Amino acid sequence: MCRRAMSRPEHTRPSPAPASRIQSTTRLAHSMSSKASPTVREILASRAGEEMELNNLYLNPQLGRILRAVGFDRTWVGGEGAHLIDSSGQRYLDLFGGHGVFALGRNHPEVIAAIEDVLTARTANLPQLGVTLLSGVLAEQLLARAPESVGAMVPANTGAEAVEGAIKIARAATGRQRIIFTEHAFHGLTMGALSLNGNPEFRDGFGPFVPGCCRVPFGDLDALERELGRGDVAAFVVEPVQGKGVNIPPIDYLAGAQSLCGASGALFVCDEVQTGLGRTGRLLALEHWGLEPDMICLSKALSGGFIPIGAVLVSRASFERVFDRMKRAIRHGSTFGGNDLAAAAALATLRVLDGEQLVARAARMGDLLLELTRPLVDRHEIVREVRGLGLMWAIELRPPGRRSVWNGIEHAQPGVFSQLVTVPLFHEHRILCQVAGPRMNVIKALPALVVEEREIRRFATALEEVVARAEHASAAMLRLGWRMARHRLSGLNPAGGAGRGGGVPVRGLRFASAGRHGQDS
Ligand SMILES: Cc1ncc(COP(=O)(O)O)c(C=O)c1O
Repeated sequence: MCRRAMSRPEHTRPSPAPASRIQSTTRLAHSMSSKASPTVREILASRAGEEMELNNLYLNPQLGRILRAVGFDRTWVGGEGAHLIDSSGQRYLDLFGGHGVFALGRNHPEVIAAIEDVLTARTANLPQLGVTLLSGVLAEQLLARAPESVGAMVPANTGAEAVEGAIKIARAATGRQRIIFTEHAFHGLTMGALSLNGNPEFRDGFGPFVPGCCRVPFGDLDALERELGRGDVAAFVVEPVQGKGVNIPPIDYLAGAQSLCGASGALFVCDEVQTGLGRTGRLLALEHWGLEPDMICLSKALSGGFIPIGAVLVSRASFERVFDRMKRAIRHGSTFGGNDLAAAAALATLRVLDGEQLVARAARMGDLLLELTRPLVDRHEIVREVRGLGLMWAIELRPPGRRSVWNGIEHAQPGVFSQLVTVPLFHEHRILCQVAGPRMNVIKALPALVVEEREIRRFATALEEVVARAEHASAAMLRLGWRMARHRLSGLNPAGGAGRGGGVPVRGLRFASAGRHGQDS
């Protein structure tokens, strides 16, 4: 109880208690928890509906404010395939996909069965001074599907951890320090991964960063060549398609980058945390360009959205330079890396991708989505571009000829115009999607690869309707919505006291004025 009270927002904190009282409340908390200690089943049954209040007290109240402002503060009670289900039983087409982890859709029964198999088998998980079967088979299966340039796997638990591993391996394998990354890159938010982040919104306030990390424009081979020419670069780390903005590289960029790296002795690292596992219509996006990287980072969809997981696939040469003698056997790793539950979920994920032919399906559905939505560029002045690869898709908006509407709200918060699209999609069409990054008017979709054709068509129709409406929204109406949103938020009780589901509607439009609504990965 004592620890909990200390993590409350400022205004709800109790005044400091004397040390003796802190001790007794701590004891009280212990005795209460041992008496009450409900099971998970009991918690799910008896405390449903408290999630926002708990979030606002102990987790991320600013996120709670954003959700409430745009009216996305649903109580989610379940998920199935490409859909999320709210407490009133309404199904929402989830194009956010938990930041891209739900490639198989939510709650795929084969992955659940694999996890249950591990639990039932009571496996000898994580012996640490010992090795396990499932992790070894996962490495075998992933490497069998990867280019021949990689020949070993370093397990991890998240995307950022995989990237951290790649940075360390690159430095140790080459004996060099510098790491090159690209503008707008996103590789995770731990310190090393953040040092490779190309967006000030994520970096600000967290420096100084890992030394030797250097940014080049995405798609610019000359800039990369200049940096590599110094002869001190350990690795160039790049997303084949950038998650922030869904930026697809010029056709020759990645192959060119790979050969420049090879020529200069730098390692070429593909961060496929988001693009991997079928997302772009190939199992690995690098297949689109026939790449043979020195390292490949994987995570997100790899365990079907159930268990944190990550992996770095590494060339044998680099791997052997890092783990080159017995005393260096455990110089990199993590306690939970390669655990049985994650490995089992990943093996089941690969099985489902193969069995349901989801990679080819992603390519087909992605083509359909582009075919249905690309014409919006010609039909609507505010649509700058529609782009995508497989089921990684985005629409970029631009100011209309009469800029007053755009300027009116973009002035208050850059990137907010796109909410004229995402918010009605959610409220009127039950489609959840999000902006593709901070301060940009790019809306992104990462549908489950199992998404049905009729849902793709439904999305395209709904999108056109809301885009047309956003194009014709009047400045006065939007300013009113904006003012109401601010007013509403300023009177909000961050502890979650105000009612749910409201948002700030102005004839079907709602607005958020708080922080990083644009945070997606
Ligand atoms: C390309 C890429 N790399 C790394 C990461 C970090 O993954 P995680 O959030 O699991 O640390 C992300 C997350 O969005 C990502 O998109």
